[in-house]
Formats: sequence, C-alpha cells, structure tokens
Amino acid sequence: MEKKHYKKITTKALFDMKQQGEKISMLTAYDYTMARILDAAGIDVILVGDSASNVMAGHETTLPITLDQMIYHASSVVRAVERALVVVDMPFGTYQGNSKKALESAIRIMKESGGHAVKMEGGAEIAESVERILSAGIPVMGHLGLTPQSIYKFGTYTVRAKEEKEAKKLLEDAKLLEELGVFSIVLEKIPAQLAKQVTESVRIPVIGIGAGPNVDGQVLVMHDMLGMTKDFSPRFLRRYADLHSIMTQAFKQYIRDVKTLDFPNESEQY
Ligand code: KIV
Repeated sequence: MEKKHYKKITTKALFDMKQQGEKISMLTAYDYTMARILDAAGIDVILVGDSASNVMAGHETTLPITLDQMIYHASSVVRAVERALVVVDMPFGTYQGNSKKALESAIRIMKESGGHAVKMEGGAEIAESVERILSAGIPVMGHLGLTPQSIYKFGTYTVRAKEEKEAKKLLEDAKLLEELGVFSIVLEKIPAQLAKQVTESVRIPVIGIGAGPNVDGQVLVMHDMLGMTKDFSPRFLRRYADLHSIMTQAFKQYIRDVKTLDFPNESEQY
C-alpha cells in the first residue's frame, strides 16, 4: 500500500498510520530552536515532555516542574512547528485525584501554549480526569508502564510489568484508556512481548520507549538520542550523535581562540 504524505499531523493521521502499518516517529523538544530543526526534519510527533525537569532544569525527577514552566516550554515549541503534532505533558500534581483541577490544567495548556494534545501518566486511577478532559474536546495521550511521576511509589526506574499481575493491570488500563477515548498510548520500559500484546489489543497507536519493536511508533528524549547526556545509558537508548564531544570540542576551541586573540580576526570585526 502506498504511504500517504501528511502535510500536517493530526490525531486522525496517527490513527491512519497505524492502520496502514506506517511507524510513527516521536521525540521530545522543549525550546524553539530545537523544535524548528526537528519539525523541518519531518518528525511526526513532538512531545514537550516533563523530562524538561531533568534535561532542561537539572532536577533529579520529573516531579518539580510546574504547569507554568511546561506552558513556557510548550509555547516555545509550538511557535517553531509547522507539521508535527505537539503533545504536552501534564505535570505532576495538576491532574491526579481531582478531575476539575485536571480540566483546568489541560485548558490552560491548550489556551496558553497552543499545544495540540496533552499526555497523562496512569490508568484506572486517573480515569475520571481523563474523561473530563476528553469531554472538553482536548485530545489525550496515555502513558503506562514506567511512569516517572510515580517514581517514589516504584522506588526504581527498572523495567515494569514483568510480573503477571502488573502486566494484566497494564493491559486492562490500556483497554480502559482506549474505551475512554484517548488517541494514543505511550508504553515505557516494559517487556517487548507485553508491548506487542497491548499494541495488538487496541486500535489506537501505541508508542514505545524501551518497549521493543512491535509497537506503532517510537519515542526518545532528544538530549539522550543526540548524545548530549552522558550519565544516562539504558539498554533501549540508541545514540544517533555524540553532541557532547562535538560541543565540548567547540567550546574548548572558542575558549582557546579568545585567550590567544585568534578570535575575532580582521574579517570578524567592523
Ligand atoms: O517526559 C518525557 O520525555 C516522556 C517520554 C519519556 C515518553 O514522557
């Protein structure tokens, strides 16, 4: 079957891509310049992840990032994007346990950032919030498996749902989220076989990170796949560049050039 060219990626386009067997590409971005390069390269989905809390702000977990900070990152990304679908993470504490607050938070994200959809971590526990946000016409992407906003409950970032009980709950949560009306689900760090089972059990696209190849698309954190972060090397991470070395070399060269009066030269002055 011939692949369709999508001028603009919508939630419907992602659904169609799953039906046609076209894999969905997704990466994170948090600022205008990176998002512009990423969008022009042809990425399908840009996730303004709450991983900004780690890679942009240097926090140990994703918990501290605020709604205002996520809106700032998301609006910077939205200004850069012409084609990709922009999904914005709802930060910790803005949707759990209170569906009215959840809707208010999602509305702020949509109104103030111009993002196209929100992403929320969890299954049955957050069903009421998901339902209420969907009822306002805001597209929701689910996130199951390793859910970093619950790190203090899990205690570690190791592979989730290896045991039958947790795997069963994950599968049920995926079906529930689909029933509620989410347009896609991210599965993070779970056994590849379980991810395959989930992907085959729902009609909506499933995007994996550390979930093996038998899903409908893949997502990585941009700074990790570009090799800017040195201290994070999970098995699932493929580094497509070594920007850490390239940037370090450029910075060192600049420092040398300034110190030795090589920069600026005659052609670099007025
Ligand atoms: O915040 C994030 O970057 C994410 C991805 C890891 C899926 O949620």
